[in-house]
Amino acid sequence: MSKNWAGRYATRIQSMQGSAIREILKLTENPDVISFAGGLPAPELFPSERVKEASIQVLDQHGSRALQYSVTEGYPPLREMVCEQLRAKGVPCTIDNILITSGSQQALDLIGKIMIDPGDKILVEEPTYLGALQAWNAYQAGYITVATDDEGLRMDALEEALKTSKGKFLYALPNYQNPTGISLSPERREQLARLAAEYNTPIVEDNPYGELRFEGEENSLLIALDAKGRATAEDGTMIDGNVLYLGTFSKTLCPGFRVAWIVGPVEVIQHVVQAKQGADLHTSTYTQMVAYQTARDGFVESHVEELRQVYRERRDLMLGLMDELFPPGVTWTHPQGGLFLWVRLPEGMNATELFEKAVENRVAFVPGAAFHPLGGGENTMRINFSNATPEQIEQGIKRLSDVIKAEMQK
Ligand SMILES: Cc1ncc(COP(=O)(O)O)c(C=O)c1O
Repeated sequence: MSKNWAGRYATRIQSMQGSAIREILKLTENPDVISFAGGLPAPELFPSERVKEASIQVLDQHGSRALQYSVTEGYPPLREMVCEQLRAKGVPCTIDNILITSGSQQALDLIGKIMIDPGDKILVEEPTYLGALQAWNAYQAGYITVATDDEGLRMDALEEALKTSKGKFLYALPNYQNPTGISLSPERREQLARLAAEYNTPIVEDNPYGELRFEGEENSLLIALDAKGRATAEDGTMIDGNVLYLGTFSKTLCPGFRVAWIVGPVEVIQHVVQAKQGADLHTSTYTQMVAYQTARDGFVESHVEELRQVYRERRDLMLGLMDELFPPGVTWTHPQGGLFLWVRLPEGMNATELFEKAVENRVAFVPGAAFHPLGGGENTMRINFSNATPEQIEQGIKRLSDVIKAEMQK
């Protein structure tokens, strides 16, 4: 490497590391390895034909406009569609509250850009989404972890953290959380929205999995709970509010679109718009139009029904096999939706060491320690159930249980 580069990097690169997951995924590229590691949707369920038709319609209808630069805020009909869906869930908003982003991952990055000064502390669930940590590490963030249990964030731990620390904001994943699959109970949602407002701590609500519900009632969004009793502009635009909400097509249509949205009070959205201008001017005009054309006329809603059914079957198959094969002392979550479940090995066992044995035995998962920004979770692992076929799930869980048993007998 040329000397010209060494010593010229910004100090922030010291806190930027490649995602542990991406490194791990490299090890699982061998086609013989059954991987429960990635967070990938089932590719055979992508609505390819509908996207193909939508692409042609967009070019026929919009011609060169689809290929031209466009406004940073995003394609207005798409923003209006998102708005309608959110209003139906009790979120008071107009298109002025919505910015289309290149995936929710970009929304996380832009939030970091406008909110985080070096050394700021972010309140996060323990464990939490690794991609958010990666985005915010680049802004030299620190973290305050808040304990979770089977109903999600623990309110006693949260109140303690809000009281004693100066967290810049709270990052919350209330639905089928990545990595645990756990959802926040309805009572705690109310409490969370109230506590955060009481302690003047904004919430970033990240909801990529909310639509993938297999059972149970639909829960309220934090942004809807927070909006209750707050004034809006005459035309219904949200002007006051304590929550920034992130939604995406990645899990309901396909991640390759890179089309997502961030929703919040106008003032905050305007700052995010400026941050996005500096990042990529706008999300691809063409892709936004194709995503809109694909999603419109109720298509997402009907497509999600199919996803729910297939993912529910895969989850059930996996849980059944775990019940049958995993040795006593190992426990796991029973997610009501989403893509992941979370396994806890007996104390003292190390899932990173187990991972190496698992790959030798041609099965992979993500060791849970990566999702703990302050350390811990060495005996945990994240398992994805959406991407593997039923045959692979059967083979893979058998292989994994053999590896766990062999390790426990040592
Ligand atoms: C919790 C969470 N947030 C954000 C993202 C990023 O999603 P997108 O594909 O919209 O960038 C993911 C992706 O897996 C995720 O799990």
